[in-house]
Amino acid sequence: AGNKTLAIIKPGAVERNLIGPILAKINEAGFVIKALKYTKLKKEQACEFYAVHEGKPFFEDLTDFMSSSPIVAAILEKENAVNNFRKLIGATDPLEAEEGTIRRLFAESKTHNAIHGSDSDENAIHECDFFFSRVERF
Ligand code: CMP
Repeated sequence: AGNKTLAIIKPGAVERNLIGPILAKINEAGFVIKALKYTKLKKEQACEFYAVHEGKPFFEDLTDFMSSSPIVAAILEKENAVNNFRKLIGATDPLEAEEGTIRRLFAESKTHNAIHGSDSDENAIHECDFFFSRVERF
C-alpha cells in the first residue's frame, strides 16, 4: 500500500509507441497500477485539467498538445507516491532531467515531455477524480 499519484502518458509518447516502455519503467520503480485508461481529451477538457496554468505563456501550446491525440492516464500507488514519481519522471525540461528518468529517456521538449505527474497530494486526489469514476477504482 501507500498513497497515490496521477500519471499521464502524453500525446507524442503514445504516438511513438512508448506506452509499453513507460509502463515498464513505472513498474520497475515499484509503483503499482491501480487504474488505467486510454482516452483522448477535448481542448476544453485539457483547459480544465490544466486550469492552474491558465494565463501562463505556455498554456495555449500545452492544452493544444494535450488534446491533439490519445493519452494514457493511470493512478499509481507507492509510499510517498507524488514525490517518488516526480523523481522517476525527472525535470520538466528533458535537457535538465537526470540520467535514467522517463523524461530524459523519452521526452522531446518541455511541452512534448512524454509524461505528467501530479505535483502535490491535493492535486493528485483532484486529478485522479478528473479521470476515474468511483467504479473504476477499487
Ligand atoms: P506537466 O507535468 O504536464 O505540467 C504542466 C506542463 O506545462 C508541464 O508538464 C510542461 O509540459 C508544460 N510546461 C511547464 N513549463 C513550461 C514552459 N516554461 N514552457 C513550455 N511548457 C511548459
